[in-house]
Amino acid sequence: MPKILVFYYSRTGNTEKMANAVAEGARNIGSTEVEMEYHVDADDLNRFDAVIVGVSTYHHDMPMDVKLLFEEAAEKGINLKGKTGAAFGSYGWSGEAPKLVLEIMKNKFEMVITESPLLARYMPDQNSLTLCRELGKRVSETLIHEA
Ligand SMILES: Cc1cc2nc3c(=O)[nH]c(=O)nc-3n(C[C@H](O)[C@H](O)[C@H](O)COP(=O)(O)O)c2cc1C
Repeated sequence: MPKILVFYYSRTGNTEKMANAVAEGARNIGSTEVEMEYHVDADDLNRFDAVIVGVSTYHHDMPMDVKLLFEEAAEKGINLKGKTGAAFGSYGWSGEAPKLVLEIMKNKFEMVITESPLLARYMPDQNSLTLCRELGKRVSETLIHEA
């Protein structure tokens, strides 16, 4: 069964709400295994066919925890080539973090990126949460079709 990791960083809970909705959408498909984590080690990433990252934007950047994870994965030579990657996150006014994450996934780790960064301004509203569920669902469906 294809495995999906949804991991996220959230300081005030906004991106966490999005993460819950993404995981819910991915789980609804039923034929994938979905794990949701607040913290992962670089070695954990290998176990998944898709990695969906939730990151809020602080100081025009992605959170340090997520940066360090990618640093560790690069240092250890973790092979993520061909795995599916996606990113989402809450923001206030500029919202760079999900885009930065996708850039690293694509250019450094050669992951397959099929989704644009999904953003919600501050606390996600119902419409944003629907978009999050749909994102999770699409990623899940992609893996099932590839399996
Ligand atoms: C100190 C500080 C710096 C921030 N910097 C940015 C920023 O550069 N760009 C942006 O879009 N939002 C910025 N924000 C807004 C947060 O991204 C926003 O509050 C978001 O909803 C937080 O999501 P979270 O609860 O998942 O951490 C900043 C917020 C704080 C408190």
